[in-house]
Amino acid sequence: MKYTIRILRRDRGSTESYIQDFEYETENDSDTAATALTSLNSREALTDISGLPARAIEWECSCLQKKCGACAMRINGRPGLACDAVLADFGKNIIELEPLRKFPVICDLTVDRSILFENLKTLRLWLAQTSDPSDKMQELAYESSECLQCGCCLEICPNFYAGGKFFGMSAVPVTTRLLAQMSKAEYKEISRLYSKHIFSGCGKSLACRDICPKKIDTEKLLVNANALAVWKRNGNAHFARSVNNE
Ligand code: FES
Repeated sequence: MKYTIRILRRDRGSTESYIQDFEYETENDSDTAATALTSLNSREALTDISGLPARAIEWECSCLQKKCGACAMRINGRPGLACDAVLADFGKNIIELEPLRKFPVICDLTVDRSILFENLKTLRLWLAQTSDPSDKMQELAYESSECLQCGCCLEICPNFYAGGKFFGMSAVPVTTRLLAQMSKAEYKEISRLYSKHIFSGCGKSLACRDICPKKIDTEKLLVNANALAVWKRNGNAHFARSVNNE
């Protein structure tokens, strides 16, 4: 199978992007976008499709097993993980790779996603003391812990932009996990920040629902986080109690 790997590139320090095509040939049906990028970069002298010399393609990866989220990028127009994007599944010979658009581009397919972690710090998402959550809450906390913080859900969200007041879905799994375990004393401040940075900014478009590479049920997490952080705070304790199994 012969592919054209079309990459939206940007040189380090530049603000201009350009497209470069590379030929990639394989007999392996299970090759992913990550396999293709690794193979291109391992060529002794990388050349583009017309034979002109090209510098190595910058992109991030670590686990190559859908476990770290580092390789998130736009693949044929949709955010996803390069290590999870099987070329043959796209049913076309041109594979377009672009950096995520919601974050500043550092170089080629590498973007600066540090805002995700800054937002988690703003939400004060850590436990100050040990907790003993119910079985039901442990299940919820486990599902939340699958989140890779890859940013794919933010890429597709019509309400999120880096540096905005709305922190987006990527903050919800962590919030849900923490709220599920938190003592009542810690809970009040987190629920206030949650309402400000997530609940009041979410347009409920649920664009994030089908994009998560880990298939996290984002709608369920959002409902549970809202129940824990907002309704409980507003006095609808029975709703939160049903989630909290109290
Ligand atoms: S390299 Fe870790 S998720 Fe793709």
